[in-house]
Amino acid sequence: MISTKKDIDWSSLGFGYVKTDYRYVSNYKDGKWDEGVLSTDETVTLNESAGVLQYAQTCFEGLKAYTTADGHVVCFRPDLNAERMAQSSARLEMPIFPKERFIDAVVKTVKANLDYVPPYGSGATLYLRPYMFGSNPVIGVKPATEFQFRIFATPVGPYFKGGVKPISLRVPDFDRAAPRGTGHVKAGLNYAMSLHPIVDAHNQGYNENMYLDSATRTKVEETGGANIIFVTKDNKIVTPKSSSILPSITRRSLMYVAKEYLGLETEEREILFEEIKDFKECALCGTAAVLSPVGKVVNKDKEIVYSMEKMGEISKKLYDTLTGIQMGRIEAPAGWIKVID
Ligand code: PLP
Ligand code: COI
Repeated sequence: MISTKKDIDWSSLGFGYVKTDYRYVSNYKDGKWDEGVLSTDETVTLNESAGVLQYAQTCFEGLKAYTTADGHVVCFRPDLNAERMAQSSARLEMPIFPKERFIDAVVKTVKANLDYVPPYGSGATLYLRPYMFGSNPVIGVKPATEFQFRIFATPVGPYFKGGVKPISLRVPDFDRAAPRGTGHVKAGLNYAMSLHPIVDAHNQGYNENMYLDSATRTKVEETGGANIIFVTKDNKIVTPKSSSILPSITRRSLMYVAKEYLGLETEEREILFEEIKDFKECALCGTAAVLSPVGKVVNKDKEIVYSMEKMGEISKKLYDTLTGIQMGRIEAPAGWIKVID
């Protein structure tokens, strides 16, 4: 069979935007969503006073499509993205895009862009970005009444350059956004407020920021684009319990994998920055980050080094099992894999 795959050098892709052929678009007006279409137009035209432009009334999700070892195309737990987006939407006074429609829109977007799904073993995947925004004019501080839900697809490689090489974090002087009270929301505003800290971190030679809780600045929260897990010296997986971090689907999946596939103890609890020097391994986890080993964390004059050389042994087991499930090499728990093609 002749491959219709796009002529892309998959293995050299980074985490960037590549325009693909189709995106899904549905509009909300007069209290209901329209049918939705696949569109070839990658642009969005908005009124100058649209709710998203004035008051950042927008939220987004992120998930991936994978080519499995036996040549299928699948998505990983899209139902959980639908549920989280519903929580974000409710918190931001936006309408809910129903779960079945969300999953159907994911399937349609991937199917329409199959030629952009990177081949098995290339190290790349198709990243999907569902998002929603207030589209009609608002000028008083109040929610929009019209919204657009879209999903675009873009083939991506590793989020951090160098793939699974350990990265460095620093604890910034900045608080991130207004996460307290805003929690659980994957919203445009939160991320805009993290842009200055991330530019500053990069300027200082770090890959990411490790944010501490903004109330006491003593507890580990998460990074700008991923949750954090630690491995204790006796091989327990611990991860921060906090209402102001994003409830990562990757983290929930890893905690399950640790317990049920690897027989490791797991614990979600408050983690003091003071104690992280006693852990054996540290890693970031997320759809984009997958599982990225943290080599060191710097907080002013304190430097905690895990290993800048290689991924820790337990992190590697977690990484291999999770990606094995996603790529169809290891049997997935029921309901985790949505087969698309
Ligand atoms: N935390 C933040 C701030 C994120 O942007 C992401 C990415 O989506 C995550 C955590 C990880 O979440 P998930 O595993 O659902 O992708
Ligand atoms: C994701 O992992 O899907 C994210 O949204 C992280 C980042 C690109 C914001």
